Amino acid sequence: MRRKIVAGNWKMNLDHKEGKIVSGRIVDLLKEIETSCEVILIPPFTTIPAVADVIAGTGIGLGAQDLWYEGNGAFTGEISTAMLSSLGCGYVLVGHSERRHIIGEKGPLLSKKLRAALGGSLSPIYCVGELLKEREAGKARDVVSRQVEEVLSGLRDDEIARIVVAYEPVWAIGTGKTATPEDASSMHALIRGLLAEMFDQEAAEEVPILYGGSVKPGNAADLLGRENIDGALVGGASLDPSSFLGIISAA
Ligand code: PGA
Repeated sequence: MRRKIVAGNWKMNLDHKEGKIVSGRIVDLLKEIETSCEVILIPPFTTIPAVADVIAGTGIGLGAQDLWYEGNGAFTGEISTAMLSSLGCGYVLVGHSERRHIIGEKGPLLSKKLRAALGGSLSPIYCVGELLKEREAGKARDVVSRQVEEVLSGLRDDEIARIVVAYEPVWAIGTGKTATPEDASSMHALIRGLLAEMFDQEAAEEVPILYGGSVKPGNAADLLGRENIDGALVGGASLDPSSFLGIISAA
């Protein structure tokens, strides 16, 4: 049975003081509901220590939004796997569309980052998704297949077992538009099929595939109830504790 995950990507929002308040509220609200869903908070780097303190002992997971692929050393401005692990992070985003399309990160770099995470004790949440123009040109499935294959191929079965995939159509991120549950579910099935071809079938079956892109309490149940949609990667709605909890309840 695959685990359900709801992860909140705070992006470049909530400094360490605000992050402390918001994560504290999430901890309190979570006590009021029963859920078997794994909850992960992904704050900006400078907010991670404050959130780590607040969520210690609660079972809430902690993630980072990026990492550098080398060990500690002369890489000005970068953060290593070891630094993130020592703060208590268990997860790291790799290939988020804002890093792909604003910063310009591409497959070969993402591949190195993903392997660096696996080489340390981090589980990568590997994000894939097509642009609107790619979807309109009928290329969405090709783009997503290429993103999956170029970065994940060659991993060992024990490594694929530590990966989480997130399908986030770029046109749905922060726009209020979501893929229809049918479209999302069919893309998730495509990704699962690819993983089953590339890896041991059983290992592929266990990989959680999250949907991301304007997930809100109002659309979460419909999306997360679909086959192969194992949870959500939430941006905007994760900044508001009651909205985030609404999504966790739906999951
Ligand atoms: P959104 O962001 O929920 O604000 O659309 C999702 C994401 O970028 O992970």
